[in-house]
Amino acid sequence: MTESSRSPVVLWLSSRYENIELAMAALEEVSRNSGIENDMEHWIGMALREAVANAIKHGNRQDPEKRVMVSFDVKGDDITIRVGDEGPGFDSGSVADPLAPENQLRPSGRGIFYMKTFMDLVTFQNGDGGGGTIVTMTKNFKNKKP
Ligand SMILES: Nc1ncnc2c1ncn2[C@@H]1O[C@H](COP(=O)(O)OP(=O)(O)OP(=O)(O)O)[C@@H](O)[C@H]1O
Ligand SMILES: [Mg+2]
Repeated sequence: MTESSRSPVVLWLSSRYENIELAMAALEEVSRNSGIENDMEHWIGMALREAVANAIKHGNRQDPEKRVMVSFDVKGDDITIRVGDEGPGFDSGSVADPLAPENQLRPSGRGIFYMKTFMDLVTFQNGDGGGGTIVTMTKNFKNKKP
């Protein structure tokens, strides 16, 4: 079976931090089936961890009744990962820049920056009626350039 016939892989996770590992296990499986090399999987995994952690923490506020959706779609040499939550949504344009001098000593506020660093394209959408956030991240996994 080719990867395109397996795609997309979709997970629905309860909002618990330990479930980040289920998303990581799915990435490992998708990577193995799609010829994504280990070092590349590592960088994609860093972005995935940050996105799922944000969905659990800021989106669903760790309410285990609320679900986080994670999907993996491989087309050609591109992997697209979507992470959706049932939270309030937010304005990604107003997130503080972690590289600004006044923010450099802050221990948090780097997740979105990492996602944008490790992936080629990261976009945020608020769900219909303002509810929920969907993060879409794409990476050409054959392109070694960070
Ligand atoms: N899924 C989401 N739903 C609602 N708000 C979000 C979501 N993802 C991010 N945010 C908002 O964007 C801010 C920046 O997110 P980012 O991941 O960069 O930093 P952080 O989560 O605060 O800290 P870190 O990821 O470094 O632990 C968050 O503090 C939060 O206010
Ligand atoms: Mg974060």
